[in-house]
Amino acid sequence: MRELGFTAKQNELMRLFKQDRLKRLNILQGSVRSGKTWISLILWAFWVASRPKDYLYMMCAKSLQTLKRNCLFPLQELIGEKHFTFSLSTKEGVLFGRKIMLEGANDARSEGKIRGITLGGAYCDELTLFPKDFFTMLLSRLSAPGAKLLATTNPDVPTHWLKKEYLDNKKLVDDLLSVFFSIDDNTTLPADYVESLKKEYTGVFYDRFILGKWVVAQGAIYKVFSDDPSSYNVSAAELPHLDQINVGLDFGGNESAHALVACGITQDYRRLFALRSEHIPAAGMTPQGLYKRVYDFCADIMQRYGIVPTLYGDSAEQTLIAGLRLALKPLGIIVKNALKREINDRIRATTMLMAGGRFNLISEECGSLIDAFQGAVWDDKVIGAEVRLDDGTSDIDTLDAFEYSFERYIPRLVRLEQ
Ligand SMILES: Nc1ncnc2c1ncn2[C@@H]1O[C@H](COP(=O)(O)OP(=O)(O)OP(=O)(O)O)[C@@H](O)[C@H]1O
Ligand SMILES: [Mg+2]
Repeated sequence: MRELGFTAKQNELMRLFKQDRLKRLNILQGSVRSGKTWISLILWAFWVASRPKDYLYMMCAKSLQTLKRNCLFPLQELIGEKHFTFSLSTKEGVLFGRKIMLEGANDARSEGKIRGITLGGAYCDELTLFPKDFFTMLLSRLSAPGAKLLATTNPDVPTHWLKKEYLDNKKLVDDLLSVFFSIDDNTTLPADYVESLKKEYTGVFYDRFILGKWVVAQGAIYKVFSDDPSSYNVSAAELPHLDQINVGLDFGGNESAHALVACGITQDYRRLFALRSEHIPAAGMTPQGLYKRVYDFCADIMQRYGIVPTLYGDSAEQTLIAGLRLALKPLGIIVKNALKREINDRIRATTMLMAGGRFNLISEECGSLIDAFQGAVWDDKVIGAEVRLDDGTSDIDTLDAFEYSFERYIPRLVRLEQ
């Protein structure tokens, strides 16, 4: 095992463990990068090692892949392969000789899998992302004597089930320990990294992920942009060398429009540039007419920048995608399905790039994108979740197209890791 140095906050939690003051449910909540997952893994390992060998334990995250990335590899690195091994194919691990089941909470079969078993302990990473039913089932299975839950999470909307039914539930005070971690508690991070993180999060994302508050999203989504749109302007002559250009295409239905946005990315994935956007009313447009518009748009980009773009289209429209593949073949353009990440992940990435001074656009070419940023608001009628208002009053098509053009590269563009 390597030498472990805890932050003051992490020490506080380890003290509670040593004094046997953990409760049945133990939830570490608060800011991003505040050291929750890191200490939770150590605490979990120590705790499991102190528990009976013949109990069954479980570790879960939203998906098995996120569990592996966020918890299983880090746990192995922290305590060594001698003490923790795992296999994703058998969905099992062994931690200090205890059997650990591994599950992804969003896998529809998982809930059925855990029905009926008796657990001695459970570990959950990023708990707000779990379906409530999975969590309820998990708790009902924690029935071995002394069984405990250890979980980490960032805050979400104040009406989230975890907040309302557990964290704020007065009946659970004897059973639930909640420990708050602030980003400033993680004294292992370099100060300039923390400063840049604080700058990149804006609006509701700042309140949640930096301050660690359970708050609703209200008003303008891209306030950081609409406060000073002209500061994002860049001229074609000022552009640095672009490594790649991607075009996002959202197909319009009866009510909406087709939308195209071309974005360039620099080789170091530090900067994103919107180069051109186009909004094409869907009414009266034939597939052939649309292919022609897309062809012209892409040909123009190629002529100006000397780069063959890749096109990402809304995967819901496979017929149009197939037609486009043929239509764009002469230009050598590859047409792919848009990845369609969670919308809020795309929004968070966009606002982070904006606030970090890493997003710019060519204003005179991107009128529809500028309008779309300025018109986008959070829907205040949806309770319990965050939703971008999509009632025809704002141009969601253009925002989708913009996001399709770069969402594949979000992990590289928004590097939370140092
Ligand atoms: N005591 C420590 N010693 C060394 N590194 C640490 C320590 N605590 C945390 N870290 C490092 O700090 C970074 C953030 O920690 P961690 O991933 O636990 O944060 P988190 O609160 O789970 O964040 P998020 O909400 O983003 O998941 C990680 O790179 C982690 O390895
Ligand atoms: Mg974490």
